[in-house]
Amino acid sequence: MKILVTGGAGYIGSHTCVELLNDGHEVVVIDNFVNSSPESISRVERITGKKVTLYEGDIRDERILSRIFEEHTIDFVIHFAGLKAVGESCEKPIEYYNNNLYGTLVLVETMRKHGCKKIVFSSSATVYGTPESLPLSEESKVGGTTNPYGTSKYFQEIMLKDIYASDREWTVVLLRYFNPVGAHESGMIGEDPKGIPNNLAPFIAKVAIGELKEIGVFGDDYPTPDGTGVRDYIHVVDLAKGHVAAIDKIKESGVFVYNLGTGIGYSVLDVIHAFEKACGKKLPYAVKPRRAGDIAACYADASKAKRELGWKAELGIDEMCSSLWNWQTKNPNGYRKA
Ligand code: UD1
Repeated sequence: MKILVTGGAGYIGSHTCVELLNDGHEVVVIDNFVNSSPESISRVERITGKKVTLYEGDIRDERILSRIFEEHTIDFVIHFAGLKAVGESCEKPIEYYNNNLYGTLVLVETMRKHGCKKIVFSSSATVYGTPESLPLSEESKVGGTTNPYGTSKYFQEIMLKDIYASDREWTVVLLRYFNPVGAHESGMIGEDPKGIPNNLAPFIAKVAIGELKEIGVFGDDYPTPDGTGVRDYIHVVDLAKGHVAAIDKIKESGVFVYNLGTGIGYSVLDVIHAFEKACGKKLPYAVKPRRAGDIAACYADASKAKRELGWKAELGIDEMCSSLWNWQTKNPNGYRKA
């Protein structure tokens, strides 16, 4: 199939491009590079030995999107393009809603115009808000999001469901990611956060390489086994394969919702210790106050994706940490030249 990947140069997008190409699909990418680099696409091509058709542009620009649909017969769209930093979204809600909601609207309008009605959407476990019980299944309550980033994911899900309700020819796949970590085994592509990372694993990696002094552990008084926050970390390559499983498996129209997680929760200290094993040194950390908006624990019931897509996460926390360390040491400046 020919797949349009919006935001295909980003962290999850680039790993998904590799898995799509390895699975025999053709890949067209549109990316505006606000939080990514064209270098990641060159590396995807080197890893796979296959070509990616790349368009530099913004999904809010209907002209470039239309051009893509005119120049290619797209079978499926995988929609990653969007802004994703929780803290920044509270400071810049207009930019977040404009990019994420308006961007998705322009995309689906253009898809409809060109008769392409199949979309996989990059959603997040953030749509569950504060969990009422664990593990989180696809049936768990959604909503109650606490920041514009999370709310934009929740709204986008609603928009896509409404589109299907109005036109039963659409195929809408909502993939709710838990916490993606790690990098491709080649160490050629990985997460390349701008500035000081907000998320735990890239922060640990920067401490391990000596760029940051110590890890701040945000709270050790949560009702969890060691008092630190528990999350369902999933290897980004497993996550990427989840997208391929969805487009290979889902042939009919409808709305399909899947959690992509491992079903296992690890605490902040578990992740620090796993990373120490991967990098072979002790990592300094200090307990800090809780971070506003954080929840104690969050992990998936990942059984639906296994049942219906035949997909399950294969890689564990040690592989997540060792692959992240491999990427970090081979690319201390990310995609930027030293
Ligand atoms: C965050 C977002 C979530 C988003 C996801 C994308 C928040 C509140 N949530 O999830 O909406 O979909 O990223 O990957 O930001 N921690 C530390 N020290 C750090 C960083 C994090 O102790 O320097 C702890 C946190 O308190 C949490 C865990 O590590 O318990 C994971 O944090 P993080 O990697 O930021 O992910 P989430 O908050 O789960």
